[in-house]
Formats: sequence, structure tokens, C-alpha cells
Amino acid sequence: MINCIVLPLVSYYFPSFLTHAEYTFETRYIDVPLDHFSFITNQTFALKYLVNDSFFVDNGPIFFYTGNEGDINMFAQNSGFIFDIAPDFKALIVFAEHRYYGESLPFGNLSYTSPEYLGYLSTMQALADYVYLINNLQNTYQNSSDNLTQLPVIAFGGSYGGMLAAWQKMKYPNSILGAIASSAPIWAFKNQNPCDSFYKIITEDFKTLGGQNCVNAINASWVVLREFTNNETGKSELADMWNFCDDFETDDDIDNLIEWLTEIYAALAETNYPYPTDFLVPLPGNPVKEFCSKIDANEYANDIELLHAIGEALQIYTNYTGTTECNSLESTSEQLGEEGWNFQACTEMIMPMCSKDTDMFENTEWEFDVYSDFCYKTFGVRPWNEDVPILLYGDKDLSSAHNIIFTNGLLDPWSGYGVLTNYSSDVIALIIEEGAHHSELRAAHENDPMSVIGARAIIKDRIYNWINEYNSGAGRK
Ligand SMILES: *[C@@H]1O[C@H](CO)[C@@H](O)[C@H](O)[C@H]1NC(C)=O
Ligand SMILES: *[C@@H]1O[C@H](CO)[C@@H](O)[C@H](O)[C@H]1NC(C)=O
Ligand SMILES: *[C@@H]1O[C@H](CO)[C@@H](O)[C@H](O)[C@H]1NC(C)=O
Ligand SMILES: *[C@@H]1O[C@H](CO)[C@@H](O)[C@H](O)[C@H]1NC(C)=O
Ligand SMILES: *[C@@H]1O[C@H](CO)[C@@H](O)[C@H](O)[C@H]1NC(C)=O
Ligand SMILES: *[C@@H]1O[C@H](CO)[C@@H](O)[C@H](O)[C@H]1NC(C)=O
Ligand SMILES: *[C@@H]1O[C@H](CO)[C@@H](O)[C@H](O)[C@H]1NC(C)=O
Ligand SMILES: *[C@@H]1O[C@H](CO)[C@@H](O)[C@H](O)[C@H]1NC(C)=O
Ligand SMILES: *[C@@H]1O[C@H](CO)[C@@H](O)[C@H](O)[C@H]1NC(C)=O
Repeated sequence: MINCIVLPLVSYYFPSFLTHAEYTFETRYIDVPLDHFSFITNQTFALKYLVNDSFFVDNGPIFFYTGNEGDINMFAQNSGFIFDIAPDFKALIVFAEHRYYGESLPFGNLSYTSPEYLGYLSTMQALADYVYLINNLQNTYQNSSDNLTQLPVIAFGGSYGGMLAAWQKMKYPNSILGAIASSAPIWAFKNQNPCDSFYKIITEDFKTLGGQNCVNAINASWVVLREFTNNETGKSELADMWNFCDDFETDDDIDNLIEWLTEIYAALAETNYPYPTDFLVPLPGNPVKEFCSKIDANEYANDIELLHAIGEALQIYTNYTGTTECNSLESTSEQLGEEGWNFQACTEMIMPMCSKDTDMFENTEWEFDVYSDFCYKTFGVRPWNEDVPILLYGDKDLSSAHNIIFTNGLLDPWSGYGVLTNYSSDVIALIIEEGAHHSELRAAHENDPMSVIGARAIIKDRIYNWINEYNSGAGRK
């Protein structure tokens, strides 16, 4: 089977819910050029950003979150580490929204209606937006008695936002002093890592945290599910059993259902935090274990029991608060921009993904040509070739980079594509044994494992050193 699934960096299937607003900001907008790389249009659009200056004292640094694929508020509410440390640094906190997500739509509600409008959605444009905004912030907060020195900027980002933070430093070394690239899979591109790493790590997580029985049950479920749904009655019975709003009608629906399930397993592994969270969906602490506790029977007497058990277990993800009326294969997320990310994955961010017998998922292969056709069908564009991201951001040679910390939670399936070893004295990697997807960017919690606490301490220490070095006149590296 060919995999045409575009895998979002964080899963996007939400039951509807509201994020509990915890952190507060002033919302601002800045006009940025639509196209930073041509001179054929003067068009600009309003990029949204959030500012919290309550801890800022003159000459303090700017902590700048390089927004990723979603409404910026969602990331702002789930990056409490930045708030935890800002008072010690007297930092200005800024969360910048990524173009084409949230409110930052260059063509309003037309932005997604054709490639002509959507074509300005790229990492290259987004990084240039951030250069623009950072420069504006530096001018705004410039200390009037010292016009020569710009405020040092530390970029933070998680997941795709972490990739952007690292690339911000690599592409525009003068725009920021250092970058915290949290759970950033910058090596998820052609031949940089095995394409099945992602699914292998999820399988390992389920085995370690939920037990071999859980892995066996999930692994067995695909064949059962395909067989059960190979006629109309079965399709409608399963939709009923799993509380779907609509019946499954076609085999395409079943493919989509399998994609939906796959992403839920991925999301459970990514957000396996040791305390209840509300990041993608409301979840209990240790969700993988919770999920598997519902399907850990040794063997099911028949196929229907297996499907029932999985249906029950899925409620951990789809219905933890008990308020989801029915499930839907459609994304109901207002916050994560599924379509935008899919477009990015079809143009610049081409990440080969596959699954094999060594994992608990249906086997899928990676074939660039097939993927390219899928992109053309979906968006009317094709990636130029599979090398694009490597040409843009370089391969595994980081020798021209400085002041970057890459963090990797080993439970996070994306860690298979991260920077896992110290590259130089100022481009380092932190391995967080018990960490999930950007765990250490979250606010401190009493259930945090030592590895998360330790990583935060090192990050804080490094930022101090960067800023001291900068303020002592050594300048920017
Ligand atoms: C900034 O965040 C702090 C901590 O959450 C909060 O007390 C303060 O009111 C916020 N400031 C603004 C301007 O929203
Ligand atoms: C951009 O703006 C400048 C100054 O207003 C104007 O001279 C120029 O013709 C404009 N260019 C385009 C492509 O609209
Ligand atoms: C501005 O910078 C100078 C020199 O670094 C510092 O002494 C002063 O406290 C800063 N703040 C203001 C408001 O000038
Ligand atoms: C966009 O919004 C405007 C006004 O808010 C509305 O009139 C128009 O129909 C919308 N267009 C699309 C394509 O949704
Ligand atoms: C810094 O710039 C501001 C605004 O341009 C100006 O008013 C001020 O005199 C300058 N300060 C110094 C020390 O040059
Ligand atoms: C359709 O599938 C269901 C569930 O797998 C099965 O029980 C039933 O016998 C099948 N019906 C037909 C007509 O094949
Ligand atoms: C969610 O839980 C509630 C309460 O247990 C239940 O009534 C509802 O059917 C569940 N929804 C889904 C989609 O399973
Ligand atoms: C999953 O099942 C297939 C057979 O359907 C088997 O080849 C594969 O090894 C199993 N994977 C795991 C991780 O157990
Ligand atoms: C990289 O260096 C830091 C401190 O210099 C250390 O704490 C960390 O464990 C090192 N990372 C790896 C993967 O060895």
C-alpha cells in the first residue's frame, strides 16, 4: 500500500473544546510584505503577535516564539516554560503567529481557495516575517540612552516551531542571539533518517508504557477492521459501534478511518505527558497507559470484541471529558491548521514516512512520485523535487550554526528525526529520556520527571551565558 498520508507534526483531530486561557497578552498586528522575495507587488498583510511585557525591564532580552502551524494562542497557552523563566531574565515575551494560520491570513477567507493565494505560504516567507517583526520589536523597545546595542533575542519553538527557531538562527544569524529548538525534527527529510522511525517509536512507546498485549491488539486490529468493513452492513455497524456521526460508505472512508486511528495513536505518544493536559485535546496524564488499560486483555474471543475494546479505548482521546456527542473523520480543529500544513508538506516540507512489519501499523511505502501526484490532486501544486528542504536548510552539517539547543523527548516519535548528539560547543542536543513532544517547553509541573527538570536547567543556564557574553561586548555569534 502506498502512503499518501500527510502527517501533521501534531495531530489535528480535535473534538471541539476550548483551551482554558491561562496566560494573558496584548494582541498586536504588524504589516509585513506578502512576498519578501520579489519586487512585483507591494501588498502587505497583518501578522498577528502576542506581547506580554509584565516582566520586561529596560535592556532585558526578547523571548520570541516562532509560531508554527496553528492559532498562536494555542502555542502561547502551552509553552509555560517561557513564562516560568521570563521574570529571572526580565524578558519581553512575544508569540508570533505563522502566516496563513489563525488570524494571519494574507487574503482573508480567500487565502486557501487557490494556489495563487496559497503560494505565499512557505518557511522562507515565514522566517522573513519573523526577521521583520524582530527588527520592529528591537526598534520599539530600544533603550534610548544606548542606541547602538540591540536587545538580544532568544527564539523558542516546539515541533515545526522548533525547526523554525533553529532555521531562524541558521538562515538569519543576526536576527537572533540563540535558539531553543524543542522536539524539532529538522532531519526528517530525504535519506536523513529511516522513513519508518516515526511508527517504530510509537510502537516502542505503546510496548513500554502499555504492554505487549496492547501492541498486539492494535497490530491485529487493521486486518479485522478491513474485513469487518468490507460490506455495507459492516461499515455501518462499525460507525455505530464507535459512535461516529455518519456512516462509513466507501472504501475511501475506511482508508480515512485508518488514517484517523493512526494519527490518534501518534498523538497519544506525542502528548504522553505525566499530568492531564489540554494541548491537542483534553487528556488524562499518561494517556498511552490509560488507553492500553482498556485493551490489555490477552486475547479477544472474537473480532467484534477486539473492535469494541478499541472503540472504548479511543474514548480516552476522543471523549475524555464525556462531552463529544459523536466522532467525525473531519477535522473539527479551529486551532491547528491541517490544510496549511498539508500544503507545506506538499511544497517545501517533504518528509518521507513509511511503516513496516517492525511496527504495529498497516504497512505503507514512501514513493515520491505518487506523493507528488497526491499533492497535485489536492492543491494543484507539486514539490519541485524531494531535495528541496535539504537545499534550503542544509543537510546534517551544522558547522556554520551557533547557539542552538536541540531538545528531544525520547517518547516523542519525532525524536527519530531530531539532532540527538552534541554537534559543537554551542550547538548542543539534550536527550530527555522521559520526555514527550516538547515536554520541557511546558510549564513546570510537580509530576515532571527529572530528565525534563534537568533539561530546563541546562537551557536556562545556556541562555544566561549567551546573554552575558553578548552584553559583555563579545557580540553575537
Ligand atoms: C503577563 O503574564 C503574567 C503571568 O501570567 C500576568 O500576570 C500578566 O498579567 C501578563 N501581562 C499582560 C500584559 O497580559
Ligand atoms: C510600490 O510602491 C511604490 C511607492 O509607493 C511605487 O512607486 C511602486 O510603483 C509600487 N510598486 C508596485 C509593484 O506596486
Ligand atoms: C538603558 O541602558 C543603560 C546602559 O546600558 C542602562 O544603564 C539603563 O538603565 C537603561 N535604561 C534606561 C531607561 O535608560
Ligand atoms: C469571505 O467573507 C466575506 C465577508 O466576510 C463574504 O462575503 C464572502 O462570501 C466570503 N468568501 C468566501 C469564499 O468564503
Ligand atoms: C537614540 O535615538 C533616539 C531616537 O532616534 C534619540 O532621540 C536619542 O537621542 C538617541 N540617543 C542617543 C544616546 O544617541
Ligand atoms: C457483512 O459484514 C458483516 C460484518 O463483518 C458480516 O457479519 C456479514 O455477514 C456480512 N454480510 C454479507 C452479506 O456479506
Ligand atoms: C462520550 O461520553 C458520553 C458520556 O459517557 C457518551 O454519552 C457519549 O456517547 C460519548 N461520545 C462518544 C463519541 O463516544
Ligand atoms: C504485526 O502483524 C504483522 C502480521 O500482520 C506482523 O508481520 C508484524 O511483525 C506485527 N508487528 C508487530 C510489531 O508485532
Ligand atoms: C551535550 O552537552 C550538554 C552540556 O554541555 C550535556 O548536558 C548533554 O548531555 C550533552 N548531550 C549529549 C547528547 O551528549
